[in-house]
Amino acid sequence: MASSEQLKALLQSHLEKDDDRFMSIALQVAAHEARSGHGKLAQELRDLVTVAKKKSSADKNAPISIAKGVQDDSGLLFASQPKNRLVDLIAKDDLKVRLERLVREQKFMTKLKTHGLSPRRKVLLVGPPGTGKTFTASILAGELDYPLFQV
Ligand SMILES: Nc1ncnc2c1ncn2[C@@H]1O[C@H](COP(=O)(O)OP(=O)(O)OP(=O)(O)O)[C@@H](O)[C@H]1O
Ligand SMILES: [Mg+2]
Repeated sequence: MASSEQLKALLQSHLEKDDDRFMSIALQVAAHEARSGHGKLAQELRDLVTVAKKKSSADKNAPISIAKGVQDDSGLLFASQPKNRLVDLIAKDDLKVRLERLVREQKFMTKLKTHGLSPRRKVLLVGPPGTGKTFTASILAGELDYPLFQV
């Protein structure tokens, strides 16, 4: 049985939404149970922590809030937060230079605006199936840390 201090600490970390601390106290409880000869309970607690940690790291990779806020009752919209980079793209140098320029325009948007200019907002990618159009969109999102919406 967890000590009253451990129960208090569990509740406190839950209220503070401190998941790391919550898991670490849960593991302390598991260790305490193991020492008290309750090996099965200790293992069950450790398994629960492992599952919770996996879920929490999956949540961290989930789309960021702007993507999460999008209603998708139709099931036709897929939002993600890609991590792809330009170095992952196999393309001719001139195409890469043009994509790098697009990225820089977005990154220096504020600076451009002070000169009365705005970054390009639309790109048309043309090519045979499987040559990296969607992949390029995910790379632009990845480079800029923007969410990617696919309809
Ligand atoms: N130029 C490329 N460089 C690196 N990987 C590529 C490239 N083109 C395709 N791939 C790989 O193939 C996968 C499929 O490509 P992708 O979905 O981007 O093709 P697409 O041009 O959007 O095709 P479609 O016209 O069918 O939509 C990508 O996720 C990527 O892993
Ligand atoms: Mg595509």
